[in-house]
Amino acid sequence: MQVIKYVFQPHGDDRGQLVALEEFKDIPFRIKRVYYMYDTGAGVTRGYHAHRSLEQILICIHGSCKIRLDNGREKKVIPLEKPYEGLYVSNAMWREMFDFSPDAVLMVLASELYDERDYIRDYDEFLKYVKANGGDADAEE
Ligand code: TYD
Repeated sequence: MQVIKYVFQPHGDDRGQLVALEEFKDIPFRIKRVYYMYDTGAGVTRGYHAHRSLEQILICIHGSCKIRLDNGREKKVIPLEKPYEGLYVSNAMWREMFDFSPDAVLMVLASELYDERDYIRDYDEFLKYVKANGGDADAEE
């Protein structure tokens, strides 16, 4: 499984840091929605779903957390602990977010508006979806 982590360019000076993200330049899709999670309880895992079409970039802009990605064949855990790092999450990818530090703010840039019909929330259904849609294309990676 190929993990794509973007390292954004911080514009730092003696005042501090600033990161700017533009669609199709720093982010590989049109950004239609932004949401973020904070005050995540200790020991909480959230996510537990995949999307049929949606693409996302996850940025832990404060604190830290971990993301488990699962393409139906392979799982990987990716720590997010820098405000200038973004994890690309493609469609047809099961994700779980966990190990949030108490101060974590996990921001998500999404390619589509919120649409419950795009969600796959049942893991067995996800595995069937991946098989039916040729999800093992990058099997050797
Ligand atoms: P939920 O899908 O449970 O979050 P997770 O990514 O952890 O699975 O979303 C929590 C609530 O927020 C749920 O009631 C749906 C709502 N929500 C929106 O209204 N818009 C959004 O863009 C998102 C991501 C969630």
